[in-house]
Amino acid sequence: MSVTAVVGAQWGDEGKGRVVDLLAQDSQLVVRFQGGNNAGHTVVNEFGTFRLHHVPSGIFNPDCWNVISAGCVVNPGDLLTEMAEIASGGGNCDKLLISERAHVVMPYHLLLDGLDEAQRSTAGNAIGTTKKGIGPCYTDKFARVGLQMGDLLDRTWLSQKVATLVAAKNVVIQQIYQAEPLQAEEVFETLWEQTQQLQPLVRDTLPLVHGALRQNQRILLEGQLGALRDIDWGTYPYVTSSSPTAGGAASGAGIPPHRITHVVGVAKAYTTAVGAGPFPAELHDAVGEQLRAVGQEYGATTGRPRRCGWFDALAVRHAAMLNGFTAIALTKLDVLDALDEIRICTGYRVGDQVFDHVPTTRLLEQVKPILETHPGWHQPTNTARDFLELPVEAQRYVERLEALVGVPIEWVSVGAERSEMVVRG
Ligand code: GDP
Ligand code: IMO
Ligand code: MG
Repeated sequence: MSVTAVVGAQWGDEGKGRVVDLLAQDSQLVVRFQGGNNAGHTVVNEFGTFRLHHVPSGIFNPDCWNVISAGCVVNPGDLLTEMAEIASGGGNCDKLLISERAHVVMPYHLLLDGLDEAQRSTAGNAIGTTKKGIGPCYTDKFARVGLQMGDLLDRTWLSQKVATLVAAKNVVIQQIYQAEPLQAEEVFETLWEQTQQLQPLVRDTLPLVHGALRQNQRILLEGQLGALRDIDWGTYPYVTSSSPTAGGAASGAGIPPHRITHVVGVAKAYTTAVGAGPFPAELHDAVGEQLRAVGQEYGATTGRPRRCGWFDALAVRHAAMLNGFTAIALTKLDVLDALDEIRICTGYRVGDQVFDHVPTTRLLEQVKPILETHPGWHQPTNTARDFLELPVEAQRYVERLEALVGVPIEWVSVGAERSEMVVRG
């Protein structure tokens, strides 16, 4: 029996999708426990290349159940499009289920995400959200005025709820933002039509999850984003509106915390971020551009260029502390193959003050990185499958990261395909 949370150790896009796809080959259940289609999880396998947004990355194992759990938010129309893309690529969603407790991303959430960002942008403090309505949807969930997937199953109930919710939001849309109101009837009819296709998937998913626990099955809990964008412990306010950590996994998946047996932190061999906020090890030079070009660092959801920088040992140690990583999966080592020198951020400095941990955003905005330099290896790594097949400089680099973070690096990926992975014993 194992329950393994697979979570991001940086600012997102670490390669969680490819790690879950690999581990799911040998699992019976994958539970996405938070977030919505702000996620873009890339999976490259025998079917092709897929960018998953809501659907858990175990979907390509036909024997594995995949649950979108209570901690998630779902855009029904976008989910249907995603399922159609999986089907047209040769996969299927026969073993996909959605918790009746997951929240629905409504058209007014998308509208308000855009309006809020525009307003923050004018004030010079935009977050750079994905504009998928995630923040406004979680805001409503916690304000207890959200709509759950289970509410979609009853036409009369849904029609009444939508009428009330849209009327309340129209006050904000018109009076605060001077924008066009939404038509409740139209919102309801569209939702109802989408529901006809999703209805068979929506249910109480807790019996399935706890049945798998009782039967000692292998379970994966798939996170979205990374610890540095956690609502409590990330670079607030440049964060998402949920907890992408192992703690969030227990709560979002409905699994007691002590039943989680392993926590795999996924970290890139360097750092990327999309959206605003402090990023101490960011590179603003040709090396940063090289990382972006070689690593194809463009958002899987929004297509935005990702900000690139050196591996930040403090950030990943922060993530390790919050999550209790039992292992790290280090991804995209191959992207560093051509570099002459590779740096690691080992501390932050503000004036005479040196930090060995991640401070709050007010201070993090001011810090300068303390960097150490390692030699490059100037050799392709993508054919390596054993640690000792990596160039010796690459081995030393991985070992240095391991020592700085204090967690064993059990996997090192050297290409985007499922097989391009060094597994250390
Ligand atoms: P996620 O959101 O954490 O699942 O990560 P994303 O899918 O947003 O971003 C990871 C990107 O890196 C995707 O385009 C992957 O196909 C790609 N990728 C993952 N692992 C590797 C690797 O080892 N080498 C290379 N070159 N690309 C990789
Ligand atoms: P995966 O799961 C990278 C970022 C946005 C923004 C902040 C808040 O693929 O790693 P939100 O739309 O959640 O309100 O935006 O979080 N962000 C991501 N960055 N990968 C993601 O998902 C992200 N999901 C949100 O850019 O800075
Ligand atoms: Mg991503």
